Amino acid sequence: MSDHNDLVARTLSGETSSERVEGRLDEGRVAQWVAQAREAIAAAATSEQWRAAKAAHTGEGSPLAQANRTIGELAAAQRKAAGQLIGAARAQVNDLLAKRRELIEAAELTHRLAAEAVDVTLPVGGDPVGALHPITDMIYRMCDVFTAMGWEVVETPEAEAEWLNFDALNFTPDHPARFMTDTLFLDPPGAHRLLRTHTSPGQMRTLLTRDLPVYVVVPGRTYRADEFDATHLPVFNQLEGLAVDVGLGLADLAGTLDHLAKAMFGADVATRLRPHYFPFTEPSAEVDVRCFVCHGASVDDPERPCRTCRSEGWIEWGGCGVVNPRVLASAGIDTDVYSGFAFGMGIDRTVMFADNAADLRDFVEGDVRFARGGVR
Ligand code: DAH
Repeated sequence: MSDHNDLVARTLSGETSSERVEGRLDEGRVAQWVAQAREAIAAAATSEQWRAAKAAHTGEGSPLAQANRTIGELAAAQRKAAGQLIGAARAQVNDLLAKRRELIEAAELTHRLAAEAVDVTLPVGGDPVGALHPITDMIYRMCDVFTAMGWEVVETPEAEAEWLNFDALNFTPDHPARFMTDTLFLDPPGAHRLLRTHTSPGQMRTLLTRDLPVYVVVPGRTYRADEFDATHLPVFNQLEGLAVDVGLGLADLAGTLDHLAKAMFGADVATRLRPHYFPFTEPSAEVDVRCFVCHGASVDDPERPCRTCRSEGWIEWGGCGVVNPRVLASAGIDTDVYSGFAFGMGIDRTVMFADNAADLRDFVEGDVRFARGGVR
């Protein structure tokens, strides 16, 4: 820059072009430019600094480039010497640049290799590992209990015929569960198709397609026009069970459910059957498990109410009963020979009880932390 100012000053002072050029091509000056370039190049420690030094000392605006452009303005006799002088200086600077660049590149490579070094002896396993959704996991756990006893796992459709969801299970045509407010019917309206409101249609499908005896569980999604809050979801999961054989009755049902409860919640959990009504079982009951929080203590202790069981001491887990002979008959089964029991347990509830999940919405909101083990 000072050379440029110098040039401007000389021009302004009326120096002729040829004198100016000679002044600029003075050997001492050229050597000085080379010395400046050498210093700047030697000081460059990074590629970026190297590029800056190169631009300053060989670029368009560099003293050497400027001087080179003026050679043409010299008297013919001086041009050759001037050309050689500038040419040699530029070659020298380019040479310095090339050498420096090699050094910088080598240093940078060494640095990068050190920074990116990989210890191949370290154990691998950095990839995130997936996990089964807690519901899927629970379905497997529950089904395992039954397959261990020789039962089979059957899956039946979620989009179901109204007849299989209700009529075949002895629901009367005006049963309130059929109303649009509870049941999600599928278009077109006259097709009598719906999203199954429970897994119980799996009972009839099993009876219609399999030879007796049957011992099956039917896990899967069920749908109701329900609220979406901490304790209700319009989509939930049930595990249906159906056993039809010679001589089965209520005691077999109670024993089976107690076995399931102990496998899911631990050997000390208590269950009870509480009389209830379902059209497809007779007698029918609801299965309750002892409250996991108060263990029944809140029932007689108004001072310490329990929110989990609403101080009832028990929590509802599912419905069950002895299969109504009407159901068996509508599948063409001889009810003088065969009888059976059935149950439908809430799988989501089972996860909540077994794994302490507090809010049902976690099941459907897709937060991987929940699936990855937030629950367990
Ligand atoms: N399907 C019933 C419900 O969703 C539960 C149920 C009750 C299933 C009794 C059964 C049963 O198999 O026998 O509420």
